[in-house]
Order: sequence, then structure tokens, then C-alpha cells
Amino acid sequence: MANFTTVEWKNDHVLMIDQTKLPNEEIYVKLYTAREVADAITNMIVRGAPAIGVSAAFGLALGIKQSQAKSVTQLKTEFESLTKMLFETRPTAVNLKWALDRMRKVFEACHLVIPGERSETRDPIPKIKSALEKEALQIHAEDIEINRAMGKNGEKLIRNNANIMTYCNTGALAAAGYGTALGVVRAAYENKKKFHVYVCETRPYLQGLRLTSWELQKEDIPHTVISDNMAAWLMAQKKVDGIFVGADRIAKNGDTANKIGTYNLAVLAKYHSVPFYVVAPTSTIDWECPSGKEIPIEERSAKEVTHVQGHLIGLKDVNVYNPAFDVTPSELITAIVTEKGVFKPNQLEF
Ligand code: MRU
Repeated sequence: MANFTTVEWKNDHVLMIDQTKLPNEEIYVKLYTAREVADAITNMIVRGAPAIGVSAAFGLALGIKQSQAKSVTQLKTEFESLTKMLFETRPTAVNLKWALDRMRKVFEACHLVIPGERSETRDPIPKIKSALEKEALQIHAEDIEINRAMGKNGEKLIRNNANIMTYCNTGALAAAGYGTALGVVRAAYENKKKFHVYVCETRPYLQGLRLTSWELQKEDIPHTVISDNMAAWLMAQKKVDGIFVGADRIAKNGDTANKIGTYNLAVLAKYHSVPFYVVAPTSTIDWECPSGKEIPIEERSAKEVTHVQGHLIGLKDVNVYNPAFDVTPSELITAIVTEKGVFKPNQLEF
């Protein structure tokens, strides 16, 4: 288990480690409103698909807890506008919608429990507030359990003395506290396996260099950081036995959206016959999305390309294209590791 807090419920606020400052500063921020939580998601204080889902649920629970609504109808109106605000923070990771949908079901269930005619006078509002808080905490706790189950399923794919490669940050920082693809790495290490990890730096935002290496160093897991363009050369030299990445949204046909650059790695892996594994909870599968073509791809600020942690390294006014994710076609994916087992990408029916 990681020895830091990615995101935590503190009753009157949400606590998060500020991932924009890592690895050089370990600073925690306290967010006292749903708006602050939404901004933290947009501004990457918290990031990674499962962590975004958990944070959105906490943000919604916090906003509802602070509501002064005098009727369920009024509370419902506030619920809808808070949900919309949180939903609009980042478009690609489907875990965000998944978590907000779970919260909605709880709201609706509470609402239905109220015996119709005199519901407003019975004041069910405290009940709804506490049910939503409970559900958000449940989403948080379940995420850790699910990550552990994925770790158990996936670590079997790492043999002793293997050299594996990861992309972006898929660790405890990207989830509630264990990790998806890096959770598999963590599980293999807990299982006393010996192996080595190549960490791709992950331009433009450098989640590999800044966050994954920080997490691995804390656990003493042997690793080497490479810049992204070194991956092919390592594979050509037969120095990579498997690649483990996370996912922000998996379409029904197995096409997978993940951090920009994942697709490059999958193409290289196919050419060099290196197994390419996606590790993600089933909440990352969007059953309503038939293929990768329908996955919305977030475009982020040009500054993420021209600047490194606030320092301008390119021309100030140069044209920049900055899609935050790409889609790896399912035929390039060897298997998808979930908490329910390991599946071929074209066999996601369960
Ligand atoms: O833009 P980010 O840092 O939120 O992107 C994160 C990723 O692409 C991860 O690989 C993905 O969320 C899966 S991690 C659990």
C-alpha cells in the first residue's frame, strides 16, 4: 500500500496531494468546495482515471453536504448543476461519469424511499446527504480493493527477472491508493518477484518521469527512466519482456484510450513481438461506446508542451497541438487485465 494520500475525505474538505508539484515538493491541498475539487481535476492536482472518478464523487458529496436546500426538489436541482460542473472537468476518462452515475442512483433511490405524499415535510435531506457521503466513501474503498484484485490477476504476467515497461502514471497517484498497471507491478514486488521497470518519461506532462519514478523509488522497486523515443531501441535489443499501461476509456470492442503516446508503444510492441497489456477496472469499460472512434479526446493547453513545470522551453507563440490521449486499436492489445480476470480485448463480454 502506498505511504501517501492521493485523495481523502475529511468530512468538511477533501484532501489531495498536489501532483503538479511532485516529485520535488510533497504538498497537500485542502479543498473546501465542490468548485475547488472540480478545478483540482481540471488543473491536474489530481489525475488518472480512477482517481478522477473518486475525486468527483467526493466533490459531489461535499457540495451536497454544504447545501442549504429546503426541499428535495431544490436539492435535486443543485445535485444536477454540481454533477454537470464535475462532469465537464475532463472528457476522456469514463470513470468520472461512472462515479457520478453511481451517485445519481443513490440520490434517486433515497428519493424513492420517501413515502410520496408527505415527503417534503419528513425532511429526507439529511438522509440523502449522508447516503451520498457513504457512497463516495464506498467508491474510494472499492477502488483500492479492485486495484488489488487486478494486481493479483496481472502479476502472473510478470516472470522473474523480467524487464517490463510502463507509460504515464498508473500507480497509487492515479487511483485511490494502489494503482492499475503500476498496481500490477506493486503486486509482483509484494510477491517477492525480481524484475526491473523501464519508465517512459511521458511527454508532454511527464507523468512517468515525475510521478511513476517517485512512486517506484518510495517502494524501492528497481527502475530506469527513459525518454519516450528510446522505447523502440530497447525493444529492438530485446530488453523489454512486456508493456503494462492503464486506460482512460475502453470501448466495447476493446479499443483503448490512454495517455498520448500509448498507441506509439503498442505499434512498436507489435513489430517487436512484445506483449502489450492494458490494466484497468471494469468501470473503465464504456459499454455504450462501440469503438475507439466514438471516444472523446481531450485537448489541453499549449503550455503543457511549451513549458515544463512552469518554465518556458519553447517559443512563446509557436503553434501547438496537444491531444492528451490517443486510442490504441484492440488488435494491438495482447490482453486486458481487470479485477474480474484477464481477457482478450475482443472478448469483453461479461
Ligand atoms: O492526463 P492524465 O495524467 O490524467 O492521464 C492518465 C492516464 O492516461 C493513465 O494512464 C490512465 O488514467 C489510467 S491510470 C490508472
